[in-house]
Formats: sequence, C-alpha cells, structure tokens
Amino acid sequence: MKFFLDTANIDEIKACASFGFLDGVTTNPSLMAREGIANQRNRILEICSITDGPVSAEVLATDTEGMIEEAQSLFEIAGNVAVKIPLTMPGLAATRALADSGKAVNLTLVFSPLQALLAAKAGAAFVSPFVGRLDDVGEDGMQLVEDIVSIYTNYAFETEVIVASIRSPQHVLRAALAGVDICTVPFKVIEQLAQHPLTDKGLAAFLEDHRKASAKSTPPSQH
Ligand code: G3P
Repeated sequence: MKFFLDTANIDEIKACASFGFLDGVTTNPSLMAREGIANQRNRILEICSITDGPVSAEVLATDTEGMIEEAQSLFEIAGNVAVKIPLTMPGLAATRALADSGKAVNLTLVFSPLQALLAAKAGAAFVSPFVGRLDDVGEDGMQLVEDIVSIYTNYAFETEVIVASIRSPQHVLRAALAGVDICTVPFKVIEQLAQHPLTDKGLAAFLEDHRKASAKSTPPSQH
C-alpha cells in the first residue's frame, strides 16, 4: 500500500520524506487555504521538489473547458503533478479528454460506488473516496471503499483507489485490509500510527534496567 501525505505543509512533507515512506502528496483548496496560500503554483512546485511521487493539485474551475485549461497549466508545473477534478458531469468530461492525452487525473469528492465506477470508465488514474465525511453524516465510509475495491477487481479497472478524508488509524487499517492502492493520510494520523503506549512503557523499562545495571557494575571511584 502506498502512503500519500494529505497536506500542503512543507515541514510535514519533509518529515514524512525523512521516514522513507512518502509515496506522494495530495492537496486541495482547503489545505492550501490552511497554509495561507491563494495561488498554489509555487507551493506545488516546492512539493514536487521533495517527492517524485504523484502530487495532486486541484482545479477551481467548474466547467469542462475551464477545468481542462486549468489542468494543462497545472501539469506544466512538474512531470509528477496529478490534477484533482471533482466528480461532476463536467469533471467526467474533462477527465476523459485529459486521460486521452495521457494525463493523470485524480477524481475527487467521491461518495458512492457508482461515482467510482464512472471515474474508472472516464479513465481517471486515481479515484478519491472521502471516508471521514461519510462517517460524519452517519454512513460507513470504509464500506464505500470496500465496494469500490470489489467493483474495480470485478472488471480489472486500472484506476487506483486513494482513500481520502482519513481521520484515524482505524481508517488506515480497514483500507489496508480491503487492499486499496493508496491511503492519503494527514500528518497527525501518521504520528498516531507510529505510537503505542506499550512501546513507550517498554522503552522506559529497558532504559531504567540498563541504568540500574550500569550503576551496579560501575567500579568504586579511587581517591
Ligand atoms: O484528501 C481529502 C481530504 O483532505 C479531506 O479531508 O478531513 O477535510 O474531510 P477532510
């Protein structure tokens, strides 16, 4: 399973790269706004200088022509840019046109298995089901992911599933069990994945035992 980082924060991206498992980055207009960024161009360029993996940058246009034009300009930033397009009817048409010219589109804001089926048919390189937001409205976001994986397996679609809107380690666990291609994870969830109270407790005990053994074996000082 590939790990993408779901952020536009450079410090978080550099930290994740230092762990050696940064396979890509996803951004969106809200994540850019959180960084105080109105024009994403330079930030996307900077992120692409840190990772060779796909870096998703989202279009703001809502009509097909506008999306294609904006996507083309985003693709010029770097060779590993994947353009994020919302799953709407105009978005599907833009995806088909861009996919036909060999470009990687990440169809986003996906909330149903049938939207995901359309994403694959339109030639999207990636599809992003938003699990946390479905949980927020009382649905089971991970059930959506499992359904998409089943449908894509049935028909051997090549569109890669990016589990998005991840809020907890449980989302990552269920995604891995479902066999998804990619989880895009906020940095704070990456930290949660690494932590376990028994690891902290065990480490403290090891260090304390070593300290005691060292104290016992230290020869008495000679005056
Ligand atoms: O990748 C999509 C993600 O950024 C949305 O997350 O927590 O705003 O639903 P959230």
